[in-house]
Amino acid sequence: MSLKSMSAATHIPVLLNETIEALAVQPGGRYIDCTLGGGGHAAAILERSSPGGQLLGIDADPEAIKIAETRLEAYKDSTLLINENFANLQAICLKYDFLPVHGILFDLGLSSLQLNSNSRGFSFQHDTPLDMRFSPSQEVTAADIINTFSENELAQLIKVYGEEGYSRQIAHHIIRERPIKTALHLARVIEQTIGSRRGKIHPATRTFQALRIAVNRELEHLEAALKQAINLLGCEGRLVVISYHSLEDRIVKQLMQQESRGCICLPNTPVCVCGHTARLRLVNKKVITPASTEVQLNPRSRSAKLRAAERITTQEEYYRTTELDIKAEGWRRPTLLRKLQVTFSSLQSN
Ligand SMILES: C[S@@+](CC[C@H](N)C(=O)[O-])C[C@H]1O[C@@H](n2cnc3c(N)ncnc32)[C@H](O)[C@@H]1O
Repeated sequence: MSLKSMSAATHIPVLLNETIEALAVQPGGRYIDCTLGGGGHAAAILERSSPGGQLLGIDADPEAIKIAETRLEAYKDSTLLINENFANLQAICLKYDFLPVHGILFDLGLSSLQLNSNSRGFSFQHDTPLDMRFSPSQEVTAADIINTFSENELAQLIKVYGEEGYSRQIAHHIIRERPIKTALHLARVIEQTIGSRRGKIHPATRTFQALRIAVNRELEHLEAALKQAINLLGCEGRLVVISYHSLEDRIVKQLMQQESRGCICLPNTPVCVCGHTARLRLVNKKVITPASTEVQLNPRSRSAKLRAAERITTQEEYYRTTELDIKAEGWRRPTLLRKLQVTFSSLQSN
């Protein structure tokens, strides 16, 4: 699909007002959008953080970066757009000296631009090659998995990543039909296996989700990036994550809950041995979901779940941060992060 026709299709940012509020965007703040996509959330962050706001935008998909560059043209002096995987978040921030930050956003999954593309294989409605990679630099495509995994491996993958009850039957049919090269071919095989109607969702939805997660190692990258994100937040900085299925949401929920607790020793441990201290405060006790009016306007938003947490400073860190240097208009750079940076640059030069 050409860039022009891709730009013509639009991606409507999900839970936009709720995201800006959860991030507590303020003028002069420094933010990271780890999933730039069409730049919808990024544009709103830049608008709300002006004057003086800065945004680091990351996306694994080079097409998304090109589209966002055009969309955010008016803010080009305050944006830095990087075509990278967010699993490398900390390294990116250290490389560009973009830390600590006031807010970090993850709007997970794929954009409408990717879903509607004629060449990416994300949609079971298009007769496109079964690719599903966010970045062309990744080696494994969905077709590689479909045509090389054993029946058992396929069934396991579809069950675990797709939470599909008919995983064994689907895997069995896939093996009989191989080679399967296009998204439409795979969708037909699944329809023939489990029928063409299944409540509100297409019967291929779960299998396609499973393949996309596996191709892009989505859960692994999310877990790694969230841990790094917490380290990059300044005191009172906000972490906001919008997820679209229960596997992602479980990772976000568990990490936020764990990091907002003090001791995490097993129950009945007489004396604390973990030494764990809370680094986050949950901004909302309950998950935020879109209003019915948003779902009507943008059906893609129906499964969205937003969770937000705020970085708090432990007492130990608080004392360390009293000997800080001041960076970028009064925003403080904790000594801990400076130490991290030194270690990292010495690693790189070795
Ligand atoms: C739902 S879209 C984001 C839409 C965006 N918030 C907007 O308003 O236009 C998700 C984006 O995240 C990107 N993405 C997903 N996983 C990624 C990863 N591990 N690293 C970097 N980008 C990723 C996808 O390529 C896609 O463009």
